[in-house]
Amino acid sequence: MPVIWKSQLSTGNDLIDRDHKYLISLFNSIELSLLKPDSLQYLPIFFRELLEYTREHFEREERIQLRIRYPYYAEHKMEHQKIIQHLETLNETVLKLMSARDKLGDERIHQRLDSEIISLAREWIIDHVVKTDGKMARFLKQHPQELTDY
Ligand SMILES: [Fe+2]
Ligand SMILES: [Fe+2]
Repeated sequence: MPVIWKSQLSTGNDLIDRDHKYLISLFNSIELSLLKPDSLQYLPIFFRELLEYTREHFEREERIQLRIRYPYYAEHKMEHQKIIQHLETLNETVLKLMSARDKLGDERIHQRLDSEIISLAREWIIDHVVKTDGKMARFLKQHPQELTDY
């Protein structure tokens, strides 16, 4: 089921909201690529983009936190690092499975990845964007919506 961005997810910062929207759309693309055999070939491209853009987003978000002197910066950054590790491990799994696609067959790739991607989405979107970034929103809302990271 696709995740749709809604205004309750707004953090009170344009740059961060823009990133979250893009990352959610990448998750949806990954989910779609797993649904249809002819789109499975795009999974590694989407997943790599998710990993790279997540890195970029976390750096941007951390710079903004430093700018507003966010009091929970250290624990937030630790959660970012955990998500990156999870994404890196899963990216390697995706590459390994896709390189053996002919041998394994699409069905086994689906079985192996479906639950992993759902649990990643839960960790990344539900737990992080909704809860952890949601906590940051209370502080960001005291600053202009268009506050940048420099
Ligand atoms: Fe975020
Ligand atoms: Fe975050």
